[in-house]
Amino acid sequence: MDNRRNDFVKDLDKCREELDATVTELSNKYEELVLLYDISESLGSLQNVSQLTDLILKKAVEHTNADNGILFLLDKGKGVLNIKGMYGIDWLDPEKYVVRIGHWTVGKVAAIGNPIIQNDIQFAGIENGKPITALLCVPLKAKDEVIGVISVAHGEKGKIFTSVEQKLLSTLASQAAVALENARLYEETKKMFLSIIDALAATIDAKDPYTHGHSKRVTYYGMVIAEAIGATPEFVETVKLAGLLHDVGKIGIPESVLSKAGSLTDEEYKTMMDHPVIGVRILGHINALKHVIPAMKHHHERYGGGGYPDGLKGEDIPLAARILSIADTFDAMTTDRPYRKALSNEEALRELGKNQGSQFDPELVRVFTANWKRKVMGKKDLGIGI
Ligand SMILES: [Fe+2]
Repeated sequence: MDNRRNDFVKDLDKCREELDATVTELSNKYEELVLLYDISESLGSLQNVSQLTDLILKKAVEHTNADNGILFLLDKGKGVLNIKGMYGIDWLDPEKYVVRIGHWTVGKVAAIGNPIIQNDIQFAGIENGKPITALLCVPLKAKDEVIGVISVAHGEKGKIFTSVEQKLLSTLASQAAVALENARLYEETKKMFLSIIDALAATIDAKDPYTHGHSKRVTYYGMVIAEAIGATPEFVETVKLAGLLHDVGKIGIPESVLSKAGSLTDEEYKTMMDHPVIGVRILGHINALKHVIPAMKHHHERYGGGGYPDGLKGEDIPLAARILSIADTFDAMTTDRPYRKALSNEEALRELGKNQGSQFDPELVRVFTANWKRKVMGKKDLGIGI
């Protein structure tokens, strides 16, 4: 009887152990799922590498109960890992701290492509920094290639990392790597796009030697107005692109008309008036520039009516076009032309004032004039860094 009882107790203990193990495994799985849900919810909405890095590190430190974390991105060409973000660390200069592939734990993880846990580290940390007692590093892999490393650390004796945290951090890293790679590609494409726009603006300006740098100055003045009226960053960006591209249609205007030293004949003036519509023809089919087209098309409309190409009036003229009209005319007045000398800034502002209501949106003239001294003065001579 006693033997049977003992067997029964043993079985019961075994069952309890198995149940404990299953509960632990389930709770780990649950935590992994929560983490997955948590990050896939938030990662998808971010497109900026630095925002993404901050979020990834925050989640990495939170879910592993670590004291701090660092995200490194690999510079393949140089064979080094650079710090892209830190969490819970304020003693490290990210510019100065570069890790070679294969060196230190972080570099080793990048080299082998697998996680490493180091508990019980006898390391005082970096100069002026806090000590590190345990370290967990996992690779960031996109399409099977290492693109960086996430490292989290404990700074307190006795705290360690286990395979549970390693698994959690690896789950996070696999999601993070895809999001980071997408954001990097997006930023690269955007940079390329902007440099093409820049080159296009320079081409337009080069066609008319008297207006060197015109597009950049118009862009700057336009952005000053847009920011001063409290426009959204997206709208300021629209004004920026429209400023750079507003005269792109001049590419289709004959050189003889564009560079004519004297005043234009009626016929030549009519030809010149085609440039906003030619601009639409050149760029209108580019999806990424759809929001820029109305400003480009209507930058020669007049607030009181009678402008071109459509003779729009007042607020029927798109806001970005009303802004550019002021920026464009102001720059034209304050630069030398073959047939007249440049007006002084103050004279040009007076001219804008005289023509508000008929040619320009009065409220925007007021904003430009009010912000002139604070934002615009001086910048013009500095080459305007756009
Ligand atoms: Fe124009």
